[in-house]
Amino acid sequence: MTAPRSPKVSPVSLPRLRLGVNIDHVATVRNARGGALPDPVRAALAAIAAGADGITAHLREDRRHIRDADMTRLKAEISKPLNFEMAATDEMVAIATRIAPHAVCLVPERREERTTEGGLDVVGQHARLKPVIAELARAGARVSLFVEPTREVVAASRAAGAPVVELHTGSWCEAFVAGETEKAKHEFARIAAAADEAAKLGLECHAGHGLDYDTARIVAAIPSVVELNIGHFLIGEAIFVGLAEAIGRMRAAMDEGRARAR
Ligand code: PXP
Repeated sequence: MTAPRSPKVSPVSLPRLRLGVNIDHVATVRNARGGALPDPVRAALAAIAAGADGITAHLREDRRHIRDADMTRLKAEISKPLNFEMAATDEMVAIATRIAPHAVCLVPERREERTTEGGLDVVGQHARLKPVIAELARAGARVSLFVEPTREVVAASRAAGAPVVELHTGSWCEAFVAGETEKAKHEFARIAAAADEAAKLGLECHAGHGLDYDTARIVAAIPSVVELNIGHFLIGEAIFVGLAEAIGRMRAAMDEGRARAR
């Protein structure tokens, strides 16, 4: 008599973690001198050649880095999805509708901030965001809301009609880099809980802001997160190791983190 076979356990299959590369700060360097170099579209093409799954660019009201013509060229020249980051203003909705990117990420925007400092006030701005999300969706864009990692804001995002949330990882990354262990633990727990809530509500979950190799490796282990959007660190690393190498190392860090979640 042969021994009964142990049942086959199929490995949990997680959705692939996509890497969106934000090329805003290539434009920041270009604009420091005026002129056309370095070209953010060239950076986008190089990022895709190195393994980026998509390109993100933020057209700010003050055009401090990416300009309208960059967005038009990105849409025309890149072969991977374009994620158009923008404030929910009439001007930006008109531009996004014309350019028709694959995705739009709505972010809060204040002129005086150096970078996107917090998440959208989805509860307070419900009446504004809901029709904007609907209009962008009609134009064919997959709309995400950049939000603080709380269950309440994730639920409010769904109520506003967004199919995707991008969780703001900035506070966690700051605490992690500063070695503030307790604060980092607390912030990470908020991200994990918000990601769980997104999955429960049927929302696609992204994450981004302030990520480096170490923090990307850690956040990659949250199973419901399917996309990371990373810019400043990668463009900075590119100065030292080149953009392709920086993206390769980031991809490896993400894959390592993802493997731990299985
Ligand atoms: N996601 C969103 C919505 C952002 O606003 C930014 C910053 O532009 C990023 C991701 C990327 O952040 P970082 O440049 O710090 O990697």
